[in-house]
Amino acid sequence: MKTKYIAAAIGAAFALCAQAQDAQIDRKVADLMKQMTVAEKVGQLHQLSGRQFTGPTSSAYADKLADIRAGKVGSMLNVTGVADTREIQALALQSRLKIPLLFSLDVIHGYKTVFPVPLGEAASWDMEAIELSAHIAAREAAAAGIHWTFAPMVDVARDPRWGRVMEGAGEDTYLGSQIAVARVHGFQGRKLGATDSVMATAKHFAAYGAAIAGRDYNAVDMSEQQLHEVYLPPFKAAADAGAATFMNSFNTLNGIPATGSAVLQRDILKGAWKYKGFVVSDWGSVREMVPHGYAADLSDAAVKAINAGSDMDMEGYAYTQHLEAAVKAGKVKMATLDDAVRRILTKKFELGLFDDPYRYSDAAREKAVLGDQSHRAAALDVAQKSIVLLKNENKLLPLSRDSKRIAVIGPLADSQRDLEGGWVVQGDRARVVSIVEGIRSHAGKAEISYAQACAPGCASSAGFAEAVATASRADVIVLAVGETWDMSGEAKSRTDITLPGQQEALFDALKATGKPVVVVMLAGRPLVFNTVADKADAIVYAWFPGSEGGNAVANVLFGDYNPSGKLPITFPRGVGQIPLSYAQYNTGRPVTDEKNVVYKSAYIDSVNTPRYAFGHGLSYTDFKYAGLTLSSPTMAQGQKVTLSFDLANSGKVAGTEIVQMYLRDMVSSVVRPVKELKGFQKVHLKPGETRRVSFTIDRDTLSFFNSQLKWGAEAGDFKLMIGSASDDIRLETTLKLTQ
Ligand code: BGC
Repeated sequence: MKTKYIAAAIGAAFALCAQAQDAQIDRKVADLMKQMTVAEKVGQLHQLSGRQFTGPTSSAYADKLADIRAGKVGSMLNVTGVADTREIQALALQSRLKIPLLFSLDVIHGYKTVFPVPLGEAASWDMEAIELSAHIAAREAAAAGIHWTFAPMVDVARDPRWGRVMEGAGEDTYLGSQIAVARVHGFQGRKLGATDSVMATAKHFAAYGAAIAGRDYNAVDMSEQQLHEVYLPPFKAAADAGAATFMNSFNTLNGIPATGSAVLQRDILKGAWKYKGFVVSDWGSVREMVPHGYAADLSDAAVKAINAGSDMDMEGYAYTQHLEAAVKAGKVKMATLDDAVRRILTKKFELGLFDDPYRYSDAAREKAVLGDQSHRAAALDVAQKSIVLLKNENKLLPLSRDSKRIAVIGPLADSQRDLEGGWVVQGDRARVVSIVEGIRSHAGKAEISYAQACAPGCASSAGFAEAVATASRADVIVLAVGETWDMSGEAKSRTDITLPGQQEALFDALKATGKPVVVVMLAGRPLVFNTVADKADAIVYAWFPGSEGGNAVANVLFGDYNPSGKLPITFPRGVGQIPLSYAQYNTGRPVTDEKNVVYKSAYIDSVNTPRYAFGHGLSYTDFKYAGLTLSSPTMAQGQKVTLSFDLANSGKVAGTEIVQMYLRDMVSSVVRPVKELKGFQKVHLKPGETRRVSFTIDRDTLSFFNSQLKWGAEAGDFKLMIGSASDDIRLETTLKLTQ
């Protein structure tokens, strides 16, 4: 009891101290702003890209340097490393008011140590590992002069044609919200200003993940329900977790460019959510309101963007060229400009840049932190946790090391670049462990042979015969195929998401040898690979696993790590099913029998079910679910109930199961999806061990965005489901919510 009081007192003291610090910063910002001209204020809202993009010898680059010296720039992106950030910061300190610059960068999945791509990490469903990955990325970036990362991307994405599914946490709102919080905490720590952390950015606000037909930068059109229930909650979670900044997005949302949307930025973010950070535009998205047909010219775009709540203009040149005149002409109120400037300066004070503008640019720290080999262990850990075992016929995996001959084949088997994936900053490519290298170093007595068969992309089959000959001499084949690193990410939408090039033909040729084939697949998105799914003996989905990828894959193949990853996004059977999510609606004509779909909500050339469902992922052990209880079959508004069951490891090896809780609101004023994820737990069990697992359900768990456009839970029956995947429900019961 006593310790509880002491903890509460310490907490209260910290809160008071934080309030006092905030008040002090508010005063400093106000004092500084009193000295600023309108031009200097506008300067704080202008973000420029650094030398990497223009080249130090170009005249545009010289102009940029002059603008920095003149106090016309508030932030730079793409300047990195202690030497460069110091050099550029020194220019800003020559300006009249010596306001330091913010250095920002896309540190998406690691800086020097490359972690799995974010979609891969999401498959770990492991908040601690994800937070640590973001923390290490921040630690390395912050040691190299960076104050601010443009991550996490918290866009829900249900269309794997969209290349940027790779950068997010997949299709689910609940999982995505948890991951958003983990990443924000990882990047920022609990408070801004520590030199092993950077400011986070929740992006892209909002609904960018729903670009029509999965085509990047395309329009988005969606109901209020979808927006509030599916797409906004991860942003709200990021804001509540303290994300220092938000980035708006390229897309229009129901006809209004997100960058010019006062509903999104003023009413929702800064209004209803009381957000205190600042909003940066996406690259040139202010300017792009002209081609969208929403702004007449660049000046009109500047006015519309800032009035809508876009605080900083990234490489758009609209603010720097037109805002001062717009303020003079009364098109933008001084209070609007001041609000944007205040938000940005506040972050500069919180980071401690006014006390020491170079505090993130310390050459000794840069050397020590970027050389810190302990970071590799964390990269290996999360890479292993990210791997999803999709299929394992006759328990082919794990492979035995005893006197086996293993042929490692495939265009991605010895690739280092492809393991890193897109958005790599300073990755040490030479030290990326390829798949064949990982297998060789973990193989023990097994004999390893290798043939590439074709180059990444697999345009030619010229090397297939040699690969087949190598494979024929082995007992088991490991085939590494998939997308190359540059096939997913921004501007990498695809209409055909099957295995690129001739990789399926390569698989067929190897399968024809009669040897068992383990397919290791790399990709930044769900791919469609029906032949492989039907005929491969085992499939290991490794995403783009990062610097330690080869070791992670090898540990899984040999059973040194028992896979536990689960898909954070649905894998369709064909692009014709897209968009496809487990959280679909029942319709008035649901399919109850796949053999009779006439006049049902179905296709005549494909079943509705996905190839691999959201939440799917196998283990080398078996888990049994039993003994479901609900603390009460009814619940009144304001009460809580507990759902519990026994999870047992009934197999022969230790393993981790990610148990998933779904629910369905059976009858409501707005129809609800057939399943919604509302909880999950990662449970590690030794062979033979049983553990009771519990979930608490309260009103929030049952709430949705109702027909009055408000959050609330409606009385009635809820089906509660516990499963190993969204299509593998093991236990269920009903809860009645009373008035
Ligand atoms: C992307 C953003 C990114 C920005 C800066 C844009 O094209 O959409 O996600 O942060 O560039 O590199």
